[in-house]
Amino acid sequence: MQKYILSLDQGTSISRAIIFDKSGKIISIAQKEFEQFSPRLSWIEQDANEIWYSQASVAEEAIQKAGLRAEDIKAIGITNQRETTILWDKETGKPIGNAIVWQDRRTSQYCDELKEKGYAQTIKDKTGLILDAYFSGTKIKWLLDNTPGARQKAEEGKLAFGTVDSWLIWKLTKGACHVTDVSNASRTMIYNIKSLEWDKELLELLDIPQNILPEVRTSSEVYGMTSKSLFGVEIPIAGICGDQQAALFAQMCFEKGMVKNTYNTGCFILMNTGDQIVTSNNNLITTIAWQIGDKVTYALEGSVFIGGAVIQWLRDQMNLIHSIEEIEELALSEKDNGGVYIVPAFTGLGAPYWDQYARGTFWGLNMGTTPGHIARAALESIAFRSRDVLKAMERDSGNALTQLRAGGTVLNKTIMQFQSDILGIPVVRPNVKEITALGSAYLAGLAVGFWKDIEEIKAHWEITEVYDAKMQIDKVDKTLKYWKRAVGRTGQWLD
Ligand code: G3P
Repeated sequence: MQKYILSLDQGTSISRAIIFDKSGKIISIAQKEFEQFSPRLSWIEQDANEIWYSQASVAEEAIQKAGLRAEDIKAIGITNQRETTILWDKETGKPIGNAIVWQDRRTSQYCDELKEKGYAQTIKDKTGLILDAYFSGTKIKWLLDNTPGARQKAEEGKLAFGTVDSWLIWKLTKGACHVTDVSNASRTMIYNIKSLEWDKELLELLDIPQNILPEVRTSSEVYGMTSKSLFGVEIPIAGICGDQQAALFAQMCFEKGMVKNTYNTGCFILMNTGDQIVTSNNNLITTIAWQIGDKVTYALEGSVFIGGAVIQWLRDQMNLIHSIEEIEELALSEKDNGGVYIVPAFTGLGAPYWDQYARGTFWGLNMGTTPGHIARAALESIAFRSRDVLKAMERDSGNALTQLRAGGTVLNKTIMQFQSDILGIPVVRPNVKEITALGSAYLAGLAVGFWKDIEEIKAHWEITEVYDAKMQIDKVDKTLKYWKRAVGRTGQWLD
């Protein structure tokens, strides 16, 4: 009987379940968008129960769509939006409040206070991270300090913290497992990436009790079984990996220096640095890519907070388009951006600028500006921001990039071509579009012997789209000049 791997890909805007066969091909996909809440300026929340229900329902649907039975699933891999913070009651399994999403900036001021007290370097040394509201640490503290009864519950040992992977596994195992993996732990700002343990000094600094934290495990092992009440049979949960690290894995970036970019809600660029912890001098972060057995692989990462989210904004708030796909057609209705530049700093600027108080700007609007120019500027902004990070990465690694491996849900031909034009290197895309989900499927499949080793899965990867730089150099220089001007004039908008 042929078996399959089910990957649960819990992203920022969408819960997806994807089934892969032994050759790494997709058998079925089910997906569901869920609600985002913004109760105050710069706050972004999600309902943790909705995350769970949407994820559980798409898992069922994917199995049905494939015409399979739950018995046919050999293992489940989980990949997730990272940093998003959930606290729940261990006895009732109920969240004590909404999940605070990674984009949420409510703890920016507190981060500033910590910076003023001189903690930025300690945090960087221990966690590889920049002291920023993006990561889970200050979000956990906020929930403990601002949810009535939370601290007392924690003292009584009744509270659990988890990133989305932990939360889903807790629900899938009906509370039997409270775990996470190193790749997710490395995004919390309380995990020491050198000693590979929760860092006592940082826990004390942020006043986070250790008893609420999950056990940190490798990225590829059996953590537990799904409760029989869910799928009718117990299925091993055998892989966990933060979504961006999972994409690095599935893009087969196994050698030092290999780089991928995933174009989803945000854009996340990661470079494999092997077993070396490379410290950035250019405002990138150092993170754990994955751990298999005893072997920990590290990465340099640059995060662009608003990538595809700028397209969602044009769809949902501006009503400029009805679907994400429509953006390309609208952009191609104009031959260029008409001098319009968008800096999509809607939730601040991430790497390499790290300006928590920046907000989005439009430059170069004129009486001739059309929706097509805006659409084009939006797509270009995604590529410009990615280039900013890639250039910082080149400076850190001392090597010029020779290829960019690309993937993600909002990636289209126009972005790929423009990305290649302004980088001057080929941008390639592999045969599998669902690269993030495939990463966690591989990690789960490797743990249960579905795939023998990395060599076996490497054979699945194949480049199917290549975009070479075509734009004339003087045009590239000109557009980069305007982009730099636009970014330079954006920033420190909020008090
Ligand atoms: O760090 C946040 C990241 O994991 C979110 O990824 O793909 O949901 O935008 P995505």
